[in-house]
Amino acid sequence: MEKHDLIVVLDFGAQYSMLIARRVRECNVYSELLPYNTPLEELKKRDVKGIILSGGPGSVYEKDAPKLDPRIWESGIPILGICYGMQLMAKDLGGDVKGEKTREYGKAPLVIDDHTNLFAGLGKELTSWMSHGDSVTKLPEGFKVLAHTDTTKVAAMGSKEKRLYGVQFHPEVVHTENGTEIIKNFVYIVCNCEATWTTKSFIERAIEKVRATVGKEKILLGLSGGVDSTTVAVLLHKAVGDQLTCVFIDQGFMRKNEAKKIVDMFTKHFKINLIHVDASEKFFGKLAGVTDPEKKRHTIGNEFIYTFEAEAKKLGKIPFLAQGTLYPDVIESAVKGQTSNSAARIKTHHNVGGLPEKMNFKLVEPIRKLFKDEVRAIGREMGIAEEIITRQPFPGPGLAIRIIGEVTPERVKILQDVDDIVVSEVKNAGFYKKVWQSFAVLLPIRTVGVMGDKRTYLNTIAIRAVTSSDAMTADWARLPYDLLEKISSRIINETPEINRVVYDISSKPPSTIEWE
Ligand code: XMP
Repeated sequence: MEKHDLIVVLDFGAQYSMLIARRVRECNVYSELLPYNTPLEELKKRDVKGIILSGGPGSVYEKDAPKLDPRIWESGIPILGICYGMQLMAKDLGGDVKGEKTREYGKAPLVIDDHTNLFAGLGKELTSWMSHGDSVTKLPEGFKVLAHTDTTKVAAMGSKEKRLYGVQFHPEVVHTENGTEIIKNFVYIVCNCEATWTTKSFIERAIEKVRATVGKEKILLGLSGGVDSTTVAVLLHKAVGDQLTCVFIDQGFMRKNEAKKIVDMFTKHFKINLIHVDASEKFFGKLAGVTDPEKKRHTIGNEFIYTFEAEAKKLGKIPFLAQGTLYPDVIESAVKGQTSNSAARIKTHHNVGGLPEKMNFKLVEPIRKLFKDEVRAIGREMGIAEEIITRQPFPGPGLAIRIIGEVTPERVKILQDVDDIVVSEVKNAGFYKKVWQSFAVLLPIRTVGVMGDKRTYLNTIAIRAVTSSDAMTADWARLPYDLLEKISSRIINETPEINRVVYDISSKPPSTIEWE
């Protein structure tokens, strides 16, 4: 089995740590994020080809400043320190770092003084993105200044012999011109890595691994119809064929015609064993009279697990359960969990892939090393339709949390029709991929209107469209007025139950993306 070179990013708590790993992977070299205090043994065990130290919020002289296992400096593994990482390198190796009067934030022209290795092939000057208070004032022995700016004398430093480098700016953010080239130089020239981390190689390796794990046994997968679970399904099917059974539980809160599309895609196109459970009646029954958002989420989550368990039981003994866990979820609990306090619970998430551990399955998570855009690339490569690949995120509880107040079949039908109008108009106007999410919410209030010569007293729809990069924060999307007008008039003309449409202009925080 072919083995990939590995670059480890040690996370000192920077906002951009995860982005660094993504950038390395974009150079077709595998990269993982590990906590800053990972011991040298662990790195050696994994045969790390290079280390990148991320930035961090603090100063290297603060009392509890995070430190590197000091043996790593002497290990001979090439290191690139970014911002805090570079300052730590300077301080630990006998240089000096000071809080300068002139801090530097934002874009700064970087003058390159040495065009070998790290800056090979780059121009004389490039725009860099800075964000620091402290600066390196004295180089460690054997180091040279490789680049400077007007205010920062040591904007990059390095020792070719020791293969240790530091940059004060952030090569991983898009504001740094040719940032990826710098990362490429580190990875290819300094660390000598080979570009083997490609979509094709990932798929081949994942298939082999699944076969080795599952053997001749059976494996089960809960399917939502989203890009993650669909990609896992197709991958598993390639690996173990009919040993895979997918269970698709239709809670009754899918979008218009979506359940049928999913069933057709799986049974007719991919020819994957699929059990379609129409559980809508049961879900509607459980939700009768429920209006509290948390109670709604709990009810749906519990009913889902119960239904899944019942279906699994019918299938007899199945030892393996597959899940579409992604890399950011894995790091979220492993790396960030160490430093952050557990945040106050805002919403109880229900995820179709997130079944309880007590179910006694052995878990198979073939995409747990991937970022979302890598999953998309893999899905595409395996022939999954573009409509699924580029689908906006859709919450596990579906339209139920976009119907404020009680969820009834009639209200779901109204929202399905309205949502279909919103999605198709946003797509027609070319905004579907530009925004993070765009959808409709059905409100429990009626307002007065006039249609023809008659008074109406009907429901209100709110349109929500947001831009975001990770759903942690979001801004309301500045959709063109013409598009909003088209959406509004189509909804009111085509949906007899609606006489008013409003646009949600709140950001997250303080609002959230979904209304419940
Ligand atoms: P909020 O409303 O918390 O949403 O700002 C952030 C993102 O998460 C999605 N979301 C969910 N996804 N199960 C999911 O799988 C859930 O229960 C759930 N609730 C919210 C939401 O659509 C947005 O992208």
